[in-house]
Order: sequence, then structure tokens, then C-alpha cells
Amino acid sequence: MKKIIIDADPGIDDSIAIMLAAGLSHFDILGITIVSGNVCVDKGAVNALRLSKFLKKDFNIYKSNPNPLVKELINAEDTHGEDGLGETYLPYEDREVKDGAVDFIIENLKKDEVTIFALGPLTNIARAMEKDIDAFKCARIISMGGNFKSFGNMSPVSEFNYYVDPEAADYVIQNSPNPIEIIPLDVTRKFVLTPNIIALMKSINKDVADFLENITNFYMDFHLKYENIIGSVINDPLVIMAHEFPEYFAKEKYHADVVCDGKARGMLMVDEKDFLKKEKNIILYRDIKTFPVWKNFIEILTAGEVDEEMLERIL
Ligand code: BDR
Ligand code: CA
Repeated sequence: MKKIIIDADPGIDDSIAIMLAAGLSHFDILGITIVSGNVCVDKGAVNALRLSKFLKKDFNIYKSNPNPLVKELINAEDTHGEDGLGETYLPYEDREVKDGAVDFIIENLKKDEVTIFALGPLTNIARAMEKDIDAFKCARIISMGGNFKSFGNMSPVSEFNYYVDPEAADYVIQNSPNPIEIIPLDVTRKFVLTPNIIALMKSINKDVADFLENITNFYMDFHLKYENIIGSVINDPLVIMAHEFPEYFAKEKYHADVVCDGKARGMLMVDEKDFLKKEKNIILYRDIKTFPVWKNFIEILTAGEVDEEMLERIL
């Protein structure tokens, strides 16, 4: 079993990533640690409980300090809805969610070889590293964040996760004993969930596709208004897909810094041409083969088989 921790700010696409991880039987999901981002930690924790109910999985859920390291918290309720799940207000079992996400991460990294899927701002990971860097010696971290050759979603140069807590993103990048792996917006923008894909999923597993449609409707409206596309860019699930199917992703090692202040706040500054002659501290995902990733994504979520010809026609 592959031991994993999902650090997330659920969030619509975080929730889809959690569904995917739950569909992979070789994953031992040690816990879901909640960070503030799309919504504050309390709402994020409730959404993890909602996922727990829908998936019938008793996830270990941990909350954390709700504030970024330095900056004031900004959320993305305009994108994810007031409840963080597209204003669906789904039911959940109201059980207690423990505090102590940071200590939970450290304790587990000390016990086992763990992969962390970091789907939100890197606040919890940075706090855990600040507290016990040695715990990270064998850790693998895959983070969704930044944008490289494309425009941002918070400013011309910045993506949400790294914009919200740039000090945390930079701290993790500079201090992680193993270069952190980053899936930026350049790659995730190639992975657009469309109504046609949902229709195809409905023909395989109606329950799952209905749930997906329900939580993404709000997200679709947002994308039509602000990104001019019919469909939604679902960023976070690609962290899971990159881990599972590395053969469908291209990646490269670089040195990078995150700009913390000023006009370029949150920018992932990648030294592609090695001007700085500094140690390569990130593995940056540069491209994705969308067809096989979609096929596997749909098959994991629906626990069924995709008609490849049909998929080819709708992509
Ligand atoms: C990232 O920001 C959030 O809105 C999404 O959940 C994703 O992690 C994309 O910029
Ligand atoms: Ca997220």
C-alpha cells in the first residue's frame, strides 16, 4: 500500500482529487489535512466530511491554523461557492474534526515513507517543515501551484495557491530536502472537464457523474464568465494522475523562487535558462498527454470502462 496524505482546501477540484485518491485501492490515505485557501479551514473540513459521506470512507481529517504564514487570508468563494462546493450544501455527519494537521504530518513522515499531495496553499507543509525539517528526508511532495508559460488566475503572473501564501510556497521550495514536484496552470489548463465528458461518465456510473455535475455546475458558470470556456479547469486531480501515470507527463528540473511581495506577488519565477546558477530545487511538470489521462481518470472515478472511440470524438 502506498501511504499518502492529502493536504487540501476543498474546494471543488480538491474534492474531485479526493474522490480519485479514494478510488485507488493501493492508496492508504493516512489523513486529509485541511488548509485555508478556497475556503477557510472550518468550511474545508466540513467539505471533507461531505466527501467522507458520499464516498462512505471514514477519512481522518485534521484542521490547522487558519492563517497563511504572513499575509492575510484571501479565499476563492467566488470560484468555488460560499460553501466551497458549488453552493450545493450537501449533507454530512457532524463529527468532531481534530486540530493538529501540522503535527499529524510530522508524525506520519517520521513513521513511514509518505507522499504528500498538496492541493492548496503550502501553509501546513511550510509550518511542518519549519518545525521538523528532518521529518521530510524521505518525503515526496507533489503540489498544484504556480504558472510557468501562461497567465495566472490571480494576476498576470500568479496562480491562486502560491498567491495566497507566497512565503509558504517559497519556504517549501527552498527547504524541501527533495525537490518538490509542481503541476502549474500551464498543464492544468489543458485538462478541461466539459459537459460532454460528464455525459460520457453518466453512461458508465450515473451516481458518480451526477455528484460531479452537481458540484461543478457553479465552477462551469465561473469559467464561462471569466475564462471564456464551456467546461471547467480541474487542477488538483492532476496531482494524483501525475503520481499514478508519470508516463503521460513531461517534467524538467529547474531552480525556482516564489515572489512574496509587490506586483508579482505569488509568481513562481522559474530559472529556465539557468541565469542564477543555483541548485535545481523543483521538478516542474511541463506537459500532459490528455487522452490517456482522461481515459484513466474516468475509469478510476466510475470504476468502469471507457469507450475510447467515443472519448476521442468528444475531446
Ligand atoms: C488552485 O486554486 C484553487 O482554486 C484550486 O483548488 C486549485 O488548487 C488553482 O489555481
Ligand atoms: Ca485546491
